[in-house]
Amino acid sequence: MRTHVITGGTDGMGKGLALKFLARGDRVFALASGQAKGAALLAEAARLGAADRAVFVRADLATVAGMRKALAEVTDQTDVVDGLVFGAQRFASKRIETVDGLEFTFALFYLSRYVLGHGLLPALERADAPVVMNLAGPGGLPGTIYWDDLQLTSGYQGRRAAMQGSRCVDLLGAAFPLRHPDARTRYVLYNPGFVRTGMADPLPPAFKLLTKTLGLVAAQSVDRAIGPIAALIDSPPAEPLSAFMRAKRLPLEGDDFAPDRALRLDSLTARLLDGL
Ligand SMILES: NC(=O)c1ccc[n+]([C@@H]2O[C@H](COP(=O)([O-])OP(=O)(O)OC[C@H]3O[C@@H](n4cnc5c(N)ncnc54)[C@H](OP(=O)(O)O)[C@@H]3O)[C@@H](O)[C@H]2O)c1
Repeated sequence: MRTHVITGGTDGMGKGLALKFLARGDRVFALASGQAKGAALLAEAARLGAADRAVFVRADLATVAGMRKALAEVTDQTDVVDGLVFGAQRFASKRIETVDGLEFTFALFYLSRYVLGHGLLPALERADAPVVMNLAGPGGLPGTIYWDDLQLTSGYQGRRAAMQGSRCVDLLGAAFPLRHPDARTRYVLYNPGFVRTGMADPLPPAFKLLTKTLGLVAAQSVDRAIGPIAALIDSPPAEPLSAFMRAKRLPLEGDDFAPDRALRLDSLTARLLDGL
């Protein structure tokens, strides 16, 4: 029986993957902050006859305490993780400062993936063919990392935060094999393109209506989007790091994947966490 840990496993693509894996006999830890969606996932798991293989871990992954609690709850219950999927994200139109004094998108989209990815590596390395599947934005809209103001204390825009988050996640992937050169775990950065999920729900009303309307014609369904993602989790590329924009394999070149930038962000992040 394979074990998957899925952040954002109670909605959208994370939930789609959770139910797909449960239906075929795997075990799933779904990590998210809302009780109601967690309970709904467990009810659907029970209908699939998978109640004993579905675990909902309630944690606010925008807080460092929530990241560490989730990590401890998973490692208390399993020694082995075959697949780690990152899908937790929520758009923030206005700047939100977390209890740790961090900007919300930086914390949820990037830092939680840093803490859980490195923290679960020992459990991943015990699996036969371990993989990290990081659902994000490689090869998508450009974004800038504000090295001197990572917490975006001035000039905040939700889109700017989301794009900075995407670039940080690319560098997180680039740093992973540098930090763990002997690991067997394969790291995959994957941009699913436009997918019809609840992603637009936190947008301001006019943008939400526009995005939902566009989504009806231009976005893929969750069911379609997760097919190739599940296939890559089952059979990741042989290279330690790979990146995809849907089916298109992306070259790991340029600033987005530059080793010096990856290591710079990695050490900045380690120092930041040391103080929290
Ligand atoms: N949908 C797209 O078009 C698209 C395009 C490109 C990339 N992506 C990426 O694909 C991934 C999945 O997207 P999606 O659209 O499927 O997501 P989604 O439907 O919006 O679901 C987001 C998940 O994250 C959880 N979450 C939100 N805030 C959280 C918090 N503070 N702590 C813990 N969990 C939290 C949500 O549950 P709770 O609210 O209960 O916490 C939910 O389970 C994301 O990383 C996104 O950036 C999506």
